[in-house]
Amino acid sequence: TANAMWGGRFAAGPDAIMEAINASIGYDKRLAPQDITGSRAHAAMLAATGIITDNDAEAIREGLLTVLSEIENGEFQFSAALEDIHMNVEARLKELIGEPAGRLHTARSRNDQVATDFRLWVRDQVDAAIEGLDALIRAFLDQAEAGADWVMPGFTHLQTAQPVTWGHHMMAYVEMFARDKSRFEDARRRMNESPLGAAALAGTGFPTDRHMTAEALGFDRPMANSLDAVSDRDHALEFLSCATICAVHLSRFSEELVIWSSAQFRFVTLSDRFSTGSSIMPQKKNPDAAELIRAKIGRIMGAMVALFTVMKGLPLAYSKDMQEDKEQVFDAADNLMLSLAAMTGMVSDLTANREALAAAASSGFSTATDLADWLVRELGLPFRDAHHVTGSLVAMAEGKGCDLPDLSLAEMQTVHADINEGVFDVLTVEASVASRQSYGGTAPVRVREQIARWRAALG
Ligand code: ARG
Repeated sequence: TANAMWGGRFAAGPDAIMEAINASIGYDKRLAPQDITGSRAHAAMLAATGIITDNDAEAIREGLLTVLSEIENGEFQFSAALEDIHMNVEARLKELIGEPAGRLHTARSRNDQVATDFRLWVRDQVDAAIEGLDALIRAFLDQAEAGADWVMPGFTHLQTAQPVTWGHHMMAYVEMFARDKSRFEDARRRMNESPLGAAALAGTGFPTDRHMTAEALGFDRPMANSLDAVSDRDHALEFLSCATICAVHLSRFSEELVIWSSAQFRFVTLSDRFSTGSSIMPQKKNPDAAELIRAKIGRIMGAMVALFTVMKGLPLAYSKDMQEDKEQVFDAADNLMLSLAAMTGMVSDLTANREALAAAASSGFSTATDLADWLVRELGLPFRDAHHVTGSLVAMAEGKGCDLPDLSLAEMQTVHADINEGVFDVLTVEASVASRQSYGGTAPVRVREQIARWRAALG
């Protein structure tokens, strides 16, 4: 049988395959709360502008609340024949209140309706991401504060480079996740305009008040161009872009946790609450949460690429291609929120092994740069010569199987006669990190300033 909403023009109903490819109700039912909020605002506006009567608007608004509670209670019968959440809700409203239900869709199209619903949904997810990032940043701040002056190796190429502090390493992630948070905040400002009332694409001849619905839905203003309003999915693209960058950061720290929690590193111990065991190897404690978060970038970035690919080349205004926006964003949002929560739990529960960090910090000739800098400062050597002298000393220590501070002064003087006792002051890792007081450097005094700055900024 022909569709109840547009049967007028149709003699036959759709083929089963047509229905299968066309229906979105299987997933867009998640938009029900937003759909009903949007429709209630629209009905109120239609009454305020005299387009429908107050009585009809009241019946519509009340009926929509009933529909919402039916959906929330799991009593609602979703129908694929009705395609999507918009028509499922409207059809049920008709059953509940009769004739006034047919007036709800005045001066509106599913095109501006879905654009509105989806924006509201994405906006909620942006808020959830901001909240999740805030909690994660605070967990990193706590870690940084606890070990502001604990030394650990800093790496380049995953080879020991120079000693850094645990606090400094944690604060690097505070910077990254704070940028992620500000990206979401920035995206939110741009997406907070209302498409509702753009109708199918050209606007409407009814004397609507788009400012009223925009305000009722918490938007800053109505979108200024009706064609743009129904065909734009920038809010979703931006959400996915922000999510992708955030997922990159989550993945990088996950990788560090996987490495650091290994028996070979033992830099950190993950809590039992965020680890798993092995069904065969009794000694195992695996960093599964970190591995899964490390992997989530695949589907989150995949969603971003998928939606960019859908949107590219679409002519204005609405095309059904755009129905493919939702599953990608739903999946990416679900996995981002889960990752943020899991990472926050892992970081909060994490134990940094101070001794293992310190032991690793002083291996691998990590203070060689400090030695070269000392030669420049105290003996007046050009840095390139100091680099060469230090390289010879490292080779000597390596040959003897010891660290730089273990070389005797006499041994060092065979490489450069002017070296004196003072050199030993700069060869410890503590001295090394304490000396790096340049703005943004790893010295505990600088790290504590950054912690204080972020605490003040976050309130
Ligand atoms: N389910 C549709 C979507 O998600 C709603 C909009 C349908 N509009 C249309 N002109 N067929 O995109």
